[in-house]
Amino acid sequence: MDEFWDWLSGTELAFQIGATWWFPLLESLHVVALAVVVGSIFFVDLRLLGVMGMRYPVRVFTRELPPWAWGGFGVAFITGLGMFITRPAAYAANPAFLIKMGLLVVAAANVFVLHRLMLDASAEDSRGAKLTGLISLLVWIGIIVAGRWTGHIN
Ligand code: HEM
Repeated sequence: MDEFWDWLSGTELAFQIGATWWFPLLESLHVVALAVVVGSIFFVDLRLLGVMGMRYPVRVFTRELPPWAWGGFGVAFITGLGMFITRPAAYAANPAFLIKMGLLVVAAANVFVLHRLMLDASAEDSRGAKLTGLISLLVWIGIIVAGRWTGHIN
């Protein structure tokens, strides 16, 4: 794997990103994208928890917001990858980065469970739906903390 990381960080693209204003530009776009992802997901979570939007069925939120969340995630993924290739071996050994990746998998599994639950309209305000909302809130907060923490570990 070390050879692959060496090759990756030695590419012209990785050099250009790491040695120019591309890195801060990508990092800024990463932050805008994750604001869209986390912002839209928090609306769904708060509705699931019964904290806001109770005049509307959960389905309104689970239909309207995922396209924004997925679009934002696509941009976060591409910009994240762009930053990652500048120092792949260091990121791959960075515990905060690995925790962030692990939590992204947990968030994906939670979305899968929520989708299964939403196939049954009567489950909208169930305890299970509330639990997925709570897990999502906590996991996304964890992803942001781990993302910020990544840069503080060398
Ligand atoms: C929507 C999902 C994601 C969220 C919420 C997220 C969150 C964050 C946050 C909060 C930061 C710190 C930004 C700053 O302080 O300026 C960050 C940086 C970063 N993220 Fe992400 N991220 C996500 C997806 C990804 C993915 C998929 C990758 C890799 C493929 C990635 C790679 C990185 C890298 C390399 C950095 C720079 C760390 C540094 O050296 O400071 N991120 N992310």
